Amino acid sequence: ARNFTIADIHSKYKQGIPLTMCTAYDYITAGWVQQSQCDMLLVGDSLAMTSLGYDSTTELPFEEFKYHVKSVARAPGPSLIVADMPFGTFEQSHSYGIANAIDLMKLSSRVASVKVEVGPHTRDTYTLEFVRKLCERGIPVMAHIGLTPQRANALGGFKVQGNKSAEEIVELCETAQMLERAGCWASVIECIPQRAAKYITDHVGIPTIGIGAGSGTSGQVLVIADMLGMQEGKVPKFVKKYGDLGDSASKSLRQYIDEVESRVFPRAPEHTFKIKDSIWEEFEQ
Ligand code: KIV
Ligand code: NA
Repeated sequence: ARNFTIADIHSKYKQGIPLTMCTAYDYITAGWVQQSQCDMLLVGDSLAMTSLGYDSTTELPFEEFKYHVKSVARAPGPSLIVADMPFGTFEQSHSYGIANAIDLMKLSSRVASVKVEVGPHTRDTYTLEFVRKLCERGIPVMAHIGLTPQRANALGGFKVQGNKSAEEIVELCETAQMLERAGCWASVIECIPQRAAKYITDHVGIPTIGIGAGSGTSGQVLVIADMLGMQEGKVPKFVKKYGDLGDSASKSLRQYIDEVESRVFPRAPEHTFKIKDSIWEEFEQ
């Protein structure tokens, strides 16, 4: 089976088929996403927290992120791979950002697009212009608006966006439209009220991929660690947990430890190797 392309995603979008996207952080999680035939796989900088134990995505060193992108890209399967532009890779200048986007694309031919957090408002002309320059240079860009975690400090925390005033919804929608005009092929919209997300989706001509944005978007994305219950602790309200991998891993490890300590494992014949009696007798002489 061939890999999904942006054209394939757009064709599904035009047919009104909901688009699916999930994050992955390494070869093993990417293998799961690829085997499930998810439309898109996001190497999200959320891996800073879920896989690397940083407190915030802003701490993530670019070198460490690239190492993860490469391991994700080695997993075979059809899902279209999108790689985040981490905090600090494009803020200092457009040329620095373009060089870093090229770096990401060069990690693997499987990386089909970068993703850039933009906003919160139309006055973020720096990033809008940056995105336009990437698109002009043939680097596909998925935008990300609404709650943009890299800008959580500027936004005053991890809060729902577009719920405080009519003006805020207008701003979000205009930002989405400007990103479409800049050449973005899709946009993530994060933590926006359902009705506002649907309104934006109806007023742009590119797919909207929602997270915490309700069912009115063109598609959905979730963080794999959250949706599979890979870790202890709370997940955001909008996440539906489709698994309990963390729990199941702890239980399995506890059982392994108990069985080694009580010499139950590896006693079974299927877990050990045998030697022919004749060879052993020869050895013992
Ligand atoms: O880094 C990430 O996982 C993301 C998604 C939540 C969209 O940006
Ligand atoms: Na991200």
